[in-house]
Amino acid sequence: MMQSLVSLTAKQVMQDAPVIPVIVLHDVAQAVPLARALVAGGIRMLEITLRTSAALDCMRVIRAEVPEAIVGAGTVCNARDVDACLEAGARFAVSPGYTTQLGLACRERGLPLLPGVASASEIMQALNDGYHDLKFFPAMQAGGVAMLKALYGPFAQIQFCPTGGITAQNAGEFLALPNVVCVGGSWLVPVDALAQVDYTRIEALARQATQLL
Ligand code: 3PG
Repeated sequence: MMQSLVSLTAKQVMQDAPVIPVIVLHDVAQAVPLARALVAGGIRMLEITLRTSAALDCMRVIRAEVPEAIVGAGTVCNARDVDACLEAGARFAVSPGYTTQLGLACRERGLPLLPGVASASEIMQALNDGYHDLKFFPAMQAGGVAMLKALYGPFAQIQFCPTGGITAQNAGEFLALPNVVCVGGSWLVPVDALAQVDYTRIEALARQATQLL
């Protein structure tokens, strides 16, 4: 678990904990206390989505002030996003889908990428480009557990991080699959907990998530 992360790989990102929190932050002032709460609960791989104007600054302050956290960027869609998140200190990237251009941009810059796929053809493209550790997105909408079981036949070598519609209640079903290493989800960082500045609740949710098998 607590292996050296000097040269991080996508597999290490997936193997660190059962859940990668998908984080949407609008206020940079919340970044450091949120990251500390998640780390205190045992979750250190943090996916900050590039969906808000605060996202890059949030990565910068977490990188500077919470060295125990491994900050990554989510919703990375193109080479420009890759450059921006690297400049902000991101150590890994997660994308909702996959393009060869994105795969090449990450490889050229040495940024580990967890690319999103939702079909056999997308998996074939990612595999062709050397990506074996993939996000399955949107997991529930794209077929959930049954789809992952079906994909295991032709693609037994692929390790997935299902994301999208995963909850504390259904995460265990996914984690029990042989081709699932971890899941992604926003439930560790609820919108109302952020609004109420309730980091204690977030720490507790993170701690519960580490107990998932
Ligand atoms: C997302 O991109 O927002 C993630 O898939 C998180 O989905 P969730 O909110 O259903 O966990």
